[in-house]
Amino acid sequence: MESNKRPENMARINNAELADAFIAEQVAAVRAQVDDKKVLLALSGGVDSSVVAALLIKAIGKNLVCVHVNHGLLRKGEPEQVVEVFKNRMNANLIYVDAVDRFLDKLAGVAEPEKKRKIIGAEFIRVFEEEARKQDGIEFLAQGTIYPDILESGPVKAHHNVGGLPDDLRFELVEPLKFLFKDEVRVVGKALGLPDEMVYRQPFPGPGLGVRCLGAITRERLECVRESDAILREEFAKNGLAGKVWQYFTVVPDFRSVGVKDGLRTFAYPVILRAVNTVDAMTATVEDVPFALLQHITERITKEVPGVNRVLYDLTPKPCGTIEWE
Ligand code: XMP
Repeated sequence: MESNKRPENMARINNAELADAFIAEQVAAVRAQVDDKKVLLALSGGVDSSVVAALLIKAIGKNLVCVHVNHGLLRKGEPEQVVEVFKNRMNANLIYVDAVDRFLDKLAGVAEPEKKRKIIGAEFIRVFEEEARKQDGIEFLAQGTIYPDILESGPVKAHHNVGGLPDDLRFELVEPLKFLFKDEVRVVGKALGLPDEMVYRQPFPGPGLGVRCLGAITRERLECVRESDAILREEFAKNGLAGKVWQYFTVVPDFRSVGVKDGLRTFAYPVILRAVNTVDAMTATVEDVPFALLQHITERITKEVPGVNRVLYDLTPKPCGTIEWE
């Protein structure tokens, strides 16, 4: 069986030269592994899957079949960016699946966090499997497994993806990043020409905005989360916080409160802002965002996002709050 231990003499990839050498080595290894066969990849647009995609496009071009599933729970502009970067700029063989209605219909009325996660995970596998069956001659499945995935909990991504596929769809794995740490993946991504926005992206949960639209997801509140998140990200970028704060996002609970706008009573949702710093996500501290910036973000969100009449800032460290609200 192939080793899952990082070679002891492997240098830490921390500059463009080492990244180029790694890329050349992996391109040769992937070509040797897959020859002229086709490889399938679930391309979410996250750092790991994006770097795998760019690497495999370099190695095997159109024999890499990328599937991007838009489950409706991605951040504003993300599906468009995946299409722009991979299809338009890198000329990838990319299948874009608009599964928004499918996911939101399945999630309608489901308020329990664990159930929501399960539905999102199971539906994702179903959509991916359907796309896989439409393809002829696929023998390999590429995955963005990185070394911490192996170290922390065994091959988590392998379980998630391969274990979730039916027996007749078990492919041989291609995992070119499996010995890399996250910072090395970013250096390799830069060397492959991926945009900074993709390479330095903050962590984003698999179930996406689904864990930030609390209770039963509705399209209306999902838009509140997506639009307020876009404003928060824009303001953090403008004010030099984007590269500094580890993770920041907005949450919309499933209750409304009374407010007033243009002399009229409103009954609308609050938006909760969260901005935290951490090393390993096991504990986290709250970012001391300048009060004037919080006020400005509040003004923008309450003005620009329909259905919102209050903005709150979450001051809770982890513990005792988790980073996400669920
Ligand atoms: P918590 O909320 O447990 O989150 O303090 C710790 C980190 O994990 C991320 N997170 C997830 N990532 N799938 C993921 O890929 C998930 O279901 C998930 N839930 C939480 C969270 O964003 C934070 O960075």
